[in-house]
Amino acid sequence: MIYLSIPPACYTETSWFQREREKLFREHWILIAMTQQFPEENSFVTREVGGVPVLVQKMEGRLRAFKNACPHRACPIQTEPFGNRKLICPYHGWNFGKEGQLRGIPLAEGYNFSEADKTCMDLQTYPLEIVGKFVFVNLSGNPKPITTQFSEDILLLLRETSSCLSTEFSYTIFTGKYNWKLNFENVIEEQGQHIPFVHQNTLSSILKKEGENVSPNHFFCENGPLAAIRQRYDSGLFASISTGDDKSTDIQRVSFFQRAKMPWRKQWFSSMMNSRDRGWCFTIHIFPNVNLFSSSGECCVLQQYVPLAPDSTEYHSWTFSAPLKDGIRPMPHLLWGFHHAEKRILNEDIAIFEQVQKVLASRPESAGYLGKNERSLATFGRYYLQCLNKEENHE
Ligand code: FES
Ligand SMILES: [Fe+2]
Repeated sequence: MIYLSIPPACYTETSWFQREREKLFREHWILIAMTQQFPEENSFVTREVGGVPVLVQKMEGRLRAFKNACPHRACPIQTEPFGNRKLICPYHGWNFGKEGQLRGIPLAEGYNFSEADKTCMDLQTYPLEIVGKFVFVNLSGNPKPITTQFSEDILLLLRETSSCLSTEFSYTIFTGKYNWKLNFENVIEEQGQHIPFVHQNTLSSILKKEGENVSPNHFFCENGPLAAIRQRYDSGLFASISTGDDKSTDIQRVSFFQRAKMPWRKQWFSSMMNSRDRGWCFTIHIFPNVNLFSSSGECCVLQQYVPLAPDSTEYHSWTFSAPLKDGIRPMPHLLWGFHHAEKRILNEDIAIFEQVQKVLASRPESAGYLGKNERSLATFGRYYLQCLNKEENHE
């Protein structure tokens, strides 16, 4: 069985990059933040989604998403990546209500707008969905329900996993000269085939192929609603890849989870937290550009691969521990240490991605060959081409 990878031009050409922005990033539910990032009234986060500046802000206890562009002269309403500030444009002070409605204009007489003029001067709003602690936005004018993009299993996993993450988190950004899809395709390998080669002295040494002496009942919320998922997927190393059943659509299949046994060793921080997944590593792949990785439930890393250009990616990383036991103070140094461990592994991947990127740019005619254990990449490629309306014979 041979599948073909998507054409090299998808990784290198501006025309594909632009189309991705329109058809993938502005038409799907895209992760934008975690609810922990909005601790108070007027907490906000700004991001770019598919080239569009987006602002998410908490007002009257609720998160709302807006285009981060003032209807007056296009100044961003919030200019920092995150913070706490009212919804007031810093340029001429126009201010807006919780639904984005224009509320006040300083020196209003000078503008001389009629009430009718002002009806088109509200902030543009976007649909927002919160799944557990994961905040998604959708920039499409006519968004499909989030349940068509993610299977019930994935939504359940995100909700349940949320309760296994600490309130405290650390957040940082790394960059690399490679296309974002190389990152997503890398983490969705069904058997982690690159791990023994690329991560020989790091990740590979802590994963264990056979998991004797590890209780199969050790799972997030083992007696809760995840029990059904656990029974369905509780087999060997990376053996389980597809959430959803035969009725699942390609779009639902491109988000899935994987679990592998790995030896657990007590760490200096283990007794300070309530982990429910010791002895396992666990990943949830969230189409199109997110991955959540958990190592024994004690170290969790949420990664997002944000395209800046065909050959440039911004890698956003949030780290969490398991929820801390009562009386244990937050440990930012621990969360920062997780970033260091992650970066060490990521550097090994990036070194390969940047080499691959160069070859893709120099040999645009040759697609790659994928085997049976790379069906997840083939499914991703098929759905990607379908979305971009450039269907090709892909098998
Ligand atoms: S650009 Fe926002 S008030 Fe002028
Ligand atoms: Fe890797």
